[in-house]
Amino acid sequence: MLVIDPATPADLDAIDEIERHSFPAPWPRATFEAELARAHARLDVARRGSRVVGFANYWLVVDELHVHAIATHPDQRRLGVGAQLLDHMLATGRGAGCASATLEVRCTNAPAIALYQAAGFRTVHVRARYYQDDGTDALVMVLALA
Ligand SMILES: CC(C)(COP(=O)(O)OP(=O)(O)OC[C@H]1O[C@@H](n2cnc3c(N)ncnc32)[C@H](O)[C@@H]1OP(=O)(O)O)[C@@H](O)C(=O)NCCC(=O)NCCS
Repeated sequence: MLVIDPATPADLDAIDEIERHSFPAPWPRATFEAELARAHARLDVARRGSRVVGFANYWLVVDELHVHAIATHPDQRRLGVGAQLLDHMLATGRGAGCASATLEVRCTNAPAIALYQAAGFRTVHVRARYYQDDGTDALVMVLALA
C-alpha cells in the first residue's frame, strides 16, 4: 500500500537519491532541506512500508499551486506513484483554496507530460530555451482547480 504524507528531515537522503536518479540537473539536498522550513512550500513523500518511493515538491502561493518537482524512484515507475502524488498535491491545493495549478516541464519529457495531461493539465505557453543546461524549451501547463 502506498501512503503519502509530509516529508521529515529523516526522508531527505531518500529524496536526494531519487532526485539524482531522476533529473539531468539535480537540485542539491540542501534545497529540499530548506523547503521543509518554508511556510508556503510542501514536500510530500510516497512510502511503501518504510521505503520512500517518490516525492513531490510544490508551493502554495496565494491562490496558485506551483508544481516544482515530482519524481518516482526508477525501479518503482509505472505503478501509479506519480499519479497518486499528483492527486494528493492537487487535493491539497484545492483544500488550501487554490484556483489553479501551474508548472513548467521540459518539452522532451514525454512521461511527465503524459502524467500531467492525464490529470487535466493543458499547455498554455512555450518558453524557448528555458533550461540552461541544454537549452531545452519548457512547456507551461495549467490546470483550473476551482
Ligand atoms: C514522470 C514520473 C514522475 C511519472 O511517475 P510514475 O510513478 O512512473 O507515474 P505513474 O505510474 O503514476 O503514471 C501515471 C500516468 O502517467 C503517464 N506516464 C507515466 N510514465 C510514462 C511513460 N514512461 N510513458 C508514457 N506515459 C507515462 C501515463 O499516462 C500513466 O498512466 P498509465 O500507467 O495508466 O498509462 C516519473 O517518470 C519520473 O520520476 N520521471 C523523472 C522525474 C521527472 O521528470 N519528473 C517530472 C518533472 S518535475
